[in-house]
Amino acid sequence: MTIPSVQMNDGRKIPQIGLGTWPLKDHDAPAVMVTAIEAGYRHIDTAFRYGNQIGVGQGIRDSGIAREELFITSKLDGEFQGDDKAVAGLDACLRQLGMEYVDLLLIHWPMPARDQYVSTWQTFERLQASGKVRSIGVSNFKPAHLDHLRAYTTVVPATNQIQLSPRITRADHVAYDNAHGIVTVSWSPLGQGSDLLKDPVLARIAAHHGKTPAQIVLRWNIELGLVPIPKSANKQRIAENIDIFDFALSAADIAALSALDTGAEERVDSDVNGH
Ligand SMILES: NC(=O)c1ccc[n+]([C@@H]2O[C@H](COP(=O)([O-])OP(=O)(O)OC[C@H]3O[C@@H](n4cnc5c(N)ncnc54)[C@H](OP(=O)(O)O)[C@@H]3O)[C@@H](O)[C@H]2O)c1
Repeated sequence: MTIPSVQMNDGRKIPQIGLGTWPLKDHDAPAVMVTAIEAGYRHIDTAFRYGNQIGVGQGIRDSGIAREELFITSKLDGEFQGDDKAVAGLDACLRQLGMEYVDLLLIHWPMPARDQYVSTWQTFERLQASGKVRSIGVSNFKPAHLDHLRAYTTVVPATNQIQLSPRITRADHVAYDNAHGIVTVSWSPLGQGSDLLKDPVLARIAAHHGKTPAQIVLRWNIELGLVPIPKSANKQRIAENIDIFDFALSAADIAALSALDTGAEERVDSDVNGH
């Protein structure tokens, strides 16, 4: 199976679907990695905060795949913001993963109340020049955060990873990212186990295409140029979620799915985003 890639603004490419790894832990991550890589995944999303990078790295080695065939994303959270702390953060990630580099490193949350994401990004720019990270991006940044970042730094983030599904479409954020050449990556693309997958509109479109509701949601991401990172620890669902490249949605399907938007804000976690 060939998975399409999306071009990033730094000349590199990101596979258009990845495997989410939260809330896997070190003990269960290795077997899931092997299953996913055998199923065809080449893009894995992890983070220092997930506490699973040792297991993710172990599973990748267990799979026997060459490192350069994979696209690995990690993220640094608040403890690594400001004062060049990201240097130690990336080293910790690489040590845990057992890798020489990650393909993409993200600022996990902007934490605007701390006002440190600009200086953290300047450290990220230096880390990219060091070769220990190929591409640099952000997560959970709103357009105002990106405006502020762009005003004080030179490298435009390659990606912005945000909560996004047919019920939380965030069209204005995606339009902003598109206008600035930033690839939007969708976290919780399946609604994180909510009743999104039971929606009757999804059921109708799924029946029409002979696909599952999860496959329809993920294909909607693909049609919109987004990069979904669904998490599953189940062998059958891991395979199901990546089996989305043999059909296409109609413009009417896409519009019906986008119309499920509730206008809901993304999850606001006062512990981590500093609000
Ligand atoms: N940047 C951030 O701040 C941030 C925040 C949250 C998440 N993330 C990333 O995004 C990834 C995905 O988000 P998420 O894990 O929150 O939510 P999600 O991928 O939307 O949903 C995962 C849930 O859906 C189930 N599932 C998976 N495939 C399914 C299918 N085909 N049919 C029915 N149920 C299915 C999974 O259960 P099974 O495992 O049993 O299949 C799991 O309970 C995370 O793993 C993480 O890597 C990033």
